[in-house]
Amino acid sequence: MLQNHQHLELAACENMVDAVKLTANDLLRDGFGENPLFYCLIAEVHTHQKPTSKVTVGFAMYYFTYDPWIGRLLYLEDFYVIQAYRGLGIGAEMLKRLSQIAIRSQCSCMHFLVVIWNQASIDYYTRRGALDLSSEEGWHLFRFNRGELMDMAGEE
Ligand SMILES: CC(C)(COP(=O)(O)OP(=O)(O)OC[C@H]1O[C@@H](n2cnc3c(N)ncnc32)[C@H](O)[C@@H]1OP(=O)(O)O)[C@@H](O)C(=O)NCCC(=O)NCCS
Repeated sequence: MLQNHQHLELAACENMVDAVKLTANDLLRDGFGENPLFYCLIAEVHTHQKPTSKVTVGFAMYYFTYDPWIGRLLYLEDFYVIQAYRGLGIGAEMLKRLSQIAIRSQCSCMHFLVVIWNQASIDYYTRRGALDLSSEEGWHLFRFNRGELMDMAGEE
């Protein structure tokens, strides 16, 4: 499954390969069942070698979430174009499609996380008018790991 390979490639680019626990089967179960937990745009190109076949060169994984003040939000979870195809406008085209999906779905905004050292991506989004909510509004992302969840759930 190419998308599975690509989310590993994105993890490699974020120095987080060991953090990828998911298998292709998990992705199939969670994204392609009756109530998908995520959606994906896939960027494909025709190759010179075999013009009839297509290769996947990028993806954008997203899902819908909800805010009690502003309602529907589109959450962009992963956004990746393989290195050899960057700078060709594929990312811009995916952002265009994501914006259309967000507007048609009556979302008031699109949220996403960018790791602090990914300056190229910070610049990329900032040039397009994205706000850094950590500096603008002081938000911090928190997580309870499974151990804490088990403690709070009162389970061994
Ligand atoms: C962010 C990303 C998805 C953009 O995809 P893309 O197809 O390169 O996007 P575009 O072609 O529309 O735009 C590329 C931008 O980088 C610049 N660029 C030009 N050549 C480039 C190259 N060879 N490689 C990367 N960026 C290049 C362009 O100037 C353009 O910026 P601008 O439109 O603001 O001037 C892609 O760079 C990527 O996968 N980065 C690594 C993964 C990542 O950090 N994802 C985001 C996590 S939050």
